[in-house]
Amino acid sequence: MFKLAAVVLIFSLVEANRFRSEYPGPYCASRRYDKCCHDRQDGCAQPISTTLCYCDEFCERGDHGDCCPDYEEVCLGIVPPEPLQEACSHKGHSFTPFDPPVVDNCNTCKCQNDGTVSCTDDVCLVDDALLRQLHHLERSIGWQATNYSEWWGHKYDEGKTFRLGTFYPKFKVKSMSRLTNGQEHLPTHFDATTYWPGFIGEVKDQGWCGSSWALSTASVASDRFAILSKGREIVQLAPQQIISCVRRSQGCSGGHLDTAWNYVRKVGTVNDECYPYISAQNACKIRPSDTLITANCDLPTKVDRTNMYKMGPAFSLNNETDIMIEIKKHGPVQAILRVHRDFFSYKSGIYRHSAASSAGDERAGYHSVRLIGWGEERNGYETTKYWVAVNSWGRWWGENGRFRIVRGQNECEIESYVLASLPYVHQQVKPMRQVGELQEMIVGTGYVPHPSRRYPPYGRRSG
Ligand SMILES: *[C@@H]1O[C@H](CO)[C@@H](O)[C@H](O)[C@H]1NC(C)=O
Ligand SMILES: *[C@@H]1O[C@H](CO)[C@@H](O)[C@H](O)[C@H]1NC(C)=O
Repeated sequence: MFKLAAVVLIFSLVEANRFRSEYPGPYCASRRYDKCCHDRQDGCAQPISTTLCYCDEFCERGDHGDCCPDYEEVCLGIVPPEPLQEACSHKGHSFTPFDPPVVDNCNTCKCQNDGTVSCTDDVCLVDDALLRQLHHLERSIGWQATNYSEWWGHKYDEGKTFRLGTFYPKFKVKSMSRLTNGQEHLPTHFDATTYWPGFIGEVKDQGWCGSSWALSTASVASDRFAILSKGREIVQLAPQQIISCVRRSQGCSGGHLDTAWNYVRKVGTVNDECYPYISAQNACKIRPSDTLITANCDLPTKVDRTNMYKMGPAFSLNNETDIMIEIKKHGPVQAILRVHRDFFSYKSGIYRHSAASSAGDERAGYHSVRLIGWGEERNGYETTKYWVAVNSWGRWWGENGRFRIVRGQNECEIESYVLASLPYVHQQVKPMRQVGELQEMIVGTGYVPHPSRRYPPYGRRSG
């Protein structure tokens, strides 16, 4: 133990100072007759900690030296520069109490007057230890992790508050009465984006705003408008309106899924261009009595719609088969997800919660995502079934913004609270826009370009 400390003695001044402050002594200075000895004299020693330190010339042997902490001062007359305590060192970075604190990932470290470093002790969203463990576990857990720079420097609590944002449901939404007997043929692989090309919305990025409750609701509703209108109403509904206008929700601090669905059912929403997403809460700009005209939104070109887009009541799906039938029949559904710390670093593969995040990090948060399909993957003798889900962290995360997660085992509660709803699509196609069957066919295959018109910013009413 002392040998180790002695090695430190010849290191930097900072370390030497710490050595001296840890073992203040006096040692050589307290020897009664000859404080310092010539050559090698093994008796010229003092007890320190659980061993001995020496005050003879022989003790100066560089890395292998065993001098007492005050040898230099007492025997060589080297006065330690004052003030000793000022220099601190943290992970190779030297600084003083007068310097700004050093940032270490999501924590900050201050240099105290006594030369010690004190750091805040928060769990970070990601750190080297977690990444090391995940890389180590890669083969056994079946998915790969990566080091996203976006997460670096953020606390785990910030990630849970501002990258998720769905509250655990207080009560269950009424479950759908089954219309089928479940004997329907279900393929082994299904992906809504290839089944309904052009109808499924892009991956969103919620930014640092706990708005997944609004984004997942708006995305599922939008996809279903496109699918159930057979492409006549391809529209992106405005999550920003849900964030800003739903009462009793907390905007960027999260919300309940049933309140979002209730709002879209009772009030309806405008399109996304008319109320753009700003990744923050702002004053509500839509009154429940508004129409697309009074809200100053551009009207759709293919249908005679002036009302806001409304959905029917939300219903829940109770098991794997029901969820699959619903996705294949009517499009993507919304699922709640219990998020652990390792999920943030997911890059590819079939996600399942690993043991990598230590017990202290296990305060999980809830998120909501869009399930758009399923599949299975053979790996040796094992077949792993998975869901294909779309996250709202942008395309830079996961498999182009998507992730796959184990199916049929309620992994991270993914099958415990799955919601869907049917849109009130506009039945009547504008007669003058319809050019007979050809138009219908083009609409039916989904190759309809999204109207790329410019919309005026919301709120500039002419009146
Ligand atoms: C991850 O990236 C951060 C910077 O973005 C870097 O400081 C850190 O060393 C990286 N860690 C690993 C394990 O690659
Ligand atoms: C799912 O639930 C339905 C009843 O809603 C039941 O008939 C069916 O067997 C269940 N399927 C599975 C896989 O549990």
